[in-house]
Amino acid sequence: MVNEPWNLYWHGDNLASCIARQFAGSERAIAGLWQSLAAQLNESARVLDLACGNGAVPLSLLQANAGLDICGVDQADIDPLRFLSGQQALASVRFMPGIDICELPFADGSFDAVTSQFGLEYAPLQTAIESAARVLVRGGKLQLLMHHGNSDISRSSAARRGEIDRLLEEDGLVCSTETYVAGRLSLAALESRGEAFLQDTRDKTRDLSGQIMTGIDMIVTEMKTQPAVARERLVNMKRRLEAEGQRLRQLSDAALDEGRAAQAQTWMEQAGLRIDLFQAFTIADAEAEEVLIGWQVSGERS
Ligand SMILES: C[S@@+](CC[C@H](N)C(=O)[O-])C[C@H]1O[C@@H](n2cnc3c(N)ncnc32)[C@H](O)[C@@H]1O
Repeated sequence: MVNEPWNLYWHGDNLASCIARQFAGSERAIAGLWQSLAAQLNESARVLDLACGNGAVPLSLLQANAGLDICGVDQADIDPLRFLSGQQALASVRFMPGIDICELPFADGSFDAVTSQFGLEYAPLQTAIESAARVLVRGGKLQLLMHHGNSDISRSSAARRGEIDRLLEEDGLVCSTETYVAGRLSLAALESRGEAFLQDTRDKTRDLSGQIMTGIDMIVTEMKTQPAVARERLVNMKRRLEAEGQRLRQLSDAALDEGRAAQAQTWMEQAGLRIDLFQAFTIADAEAEEVLIGWQVSGERS
């Protein structure tokens, strides 16, 4: 299945995927980028959001300009109106799953604006840029927020990947539970591996290690009375964890360091885009520390 990790993610009722450290200003500041673009566009302007996921960008755009005619495409099996709760505001958006940015099914010059939030760079970048430029009308606007190799998002996802790798390693908690379920490891041995994992001083989070440990407790209990249910829980748990690891790996592969950002800007200009802004986008957290979110790019089809 195309991009299984993202299918699982979007089916899981998540509005956005890559929001930096959770503090009040971060989502608001990112939404503000899209709202100020929307405010510059005519009512009923045609907007294409590339790699739209569950529609975070369309939602922000519509908050500032409810008349926009927005289409969102993504390679994953997206359907926000089905998988996302409470987002009727997205009812006017045409979402198209299974669409590769590099093979957009639109005629040249079909859109007045093209947007992408942590999306374009997941596709082969030069082709994706050419594709985005092709579907823009002359004078049409391009606005992107792209992953930065040193961003808060990139750094926290690397830490999260490390935690997933530890959970999935041989003799780690998940494999040990598989061995226990197969009857080749005693409960006492599984428990002592659990203890060792807890005593390991490397970072553990409640929503990853915490959830896995809770899941393992349930599996151990279910093994006594409903072993088939326990086995199914374990298979699902491992599948989700592996998918999350793959999703985070894609994120780090997509992120642009300074050199790749410069290369991207050259490709944009070669594709007929006039780039007005290509810079690091930062916001201040509650302690007034600068937090790097990504690359902010805006320009126009010449
Ligand atoms: C980090 S998510 C961003 C989603 C959304 N823009 C957001 O900010 O919440 C990256 C998305 O890129 C999509 N994607 C990856 N490669 C793609 C491609 N070649 N064509 C279209 N979408 C792609 C994935 O399916 C995923 O939904």
